[in-house]
Amino acid sequence: MIYLDSAATSFHKPEAVADAVYNAIRHMGNSGRGGHTASLSAARVIYGTRKKIANLFGVSDPAQVVFTANSTQSLNMTIQGLFHAGDHVITTAMEHNSVLRPLYRKEQQEGVSLSILPCDACGTVRYDLLEEYLQPNTKGIVCTHASNVTGNMVDIVRIGAFCKKHNLYFVVDASQTAGVFSIDMEQMGIDVLCFTGHKSLMGPQGTGGLCLQKEITLPCFCVGGSGVQSYRKIHPEEMPTHLEAGTLNGHGIAGLSAALDWITETGMDNIRAQEQKHMRMFYEAVRQIPQIKIYGDFSQSERAPIVTLNIGDNPAEEVCDALAERYDIATRGGAHCAPLMHQHFQTETQGAVRFSFSYFNTEEEIQTAIQAVREIAEEWT
Ligand SMILES: Cc1ncc(COP(=O)(O)O)c(C=O)c1O
Repeated sequence: MIYLDSAATSFHKPEAVADAVYNAIRHMGNSGRGGHTASLSAARVIYGTRKKIANLFGVSDPAQVVFTANSTQSLNMTIQGLFHAGDHVITTAMEHNSVLRPLYRKEQQEGVSLSILPCDACGTVRYDLLEEYLQPNTKGIVCTHASNVTGNMVDIVRIGAFCKKHNLYFVVDASQTAGVFSIDMEQMGIDVLCFTGHKSLMGPQGTGGLCLQKEITLPCFCVGGSGVQSYRKIHPEEMPTHLEAGTLNGHGIAGLSAALDWITETGMDNIRAQEQKHMRMFYEAVRQIPQIKIYGDFSQSERAPIVTLNIGDNPAEEVCDALAERYDIATRGGAHCAPLMHQHFQTETQGAVRFSFSYFNTEEEIQTAIQAVREIAEEWT
């Protein structure tokens, strides 16, 4: 199979990730739930991973790194905890449902008001409207670092500076960029960073987390076993236990730890350069095909390694099926859980075909994909 669906999940993981999960399953006890070697070794792996995540995202205290199951959980915990009745929140039309649905729920159930920054023709946020959207009760901005539909990046330094200036919370969804694009919470003015472990961080599914600036406190999303203060009726206030009730996904976190080591050894810049090369090679070739419509801004010097397109008026899912059945190429059609982006491009009915690239793809695979698109386009239009 030629796997071009890395924006959904990274499929070719570093070998060390699988080894680490296997070893953890064989040897890991429950972190923080005992003083024996198996429990202590789990605690060491988990703390070590917290430190690596803290280093990666410019977090000074590893206790401010909280493990969750994925960015959806992290975004729910954050949005649920930060915004309340009477608050106004700004988000963008580039968002995934993991941002939109928790915000819509707040709007419906608690009367939080919401403004959605529109995009320009290429699907990039209209930064010029930020000031206009600001209200006296605006409490924060929640936005993605890169669109999972187009690959367009959001200038989070610019939005971070805007948030600082107006004393707003800044929550960033780094699902499509963590591990490949440099993120420094301090420098970028990010208050809460939500990440998922199984995409560009190359870890196992079921891993993810959020990083919080020290002055931000979130209520417990869930309470229960903590391994400490067991006779108290309330869940501990100390971070990260405050936001981590129940046994952590230690086996997955061990895999994430190995993935973080692999990123450091390979070099984030090398990984990104390779992915950009694959994306550009594909884009430059398919854009020459007359029947192809491509969505997104390719004038951005760096973007998430995604090319989303349609072939004439053909339904995206049918194109994906043809790519899979005839060429064994894995892509993703449909709405990509990002309804506003598709409404913006008027592709709600047709959907769009997303090709997303990885460090592990080969140039031969990219050439095969280009040829496949060319052949389908010639036959179907
Ligand atoms: C931009 C963006 N945000 C959030 C998510 C949700 O990630 P997860 O399913 O790992 O929680 C995704 C996954 O597709 C995404 O692309």
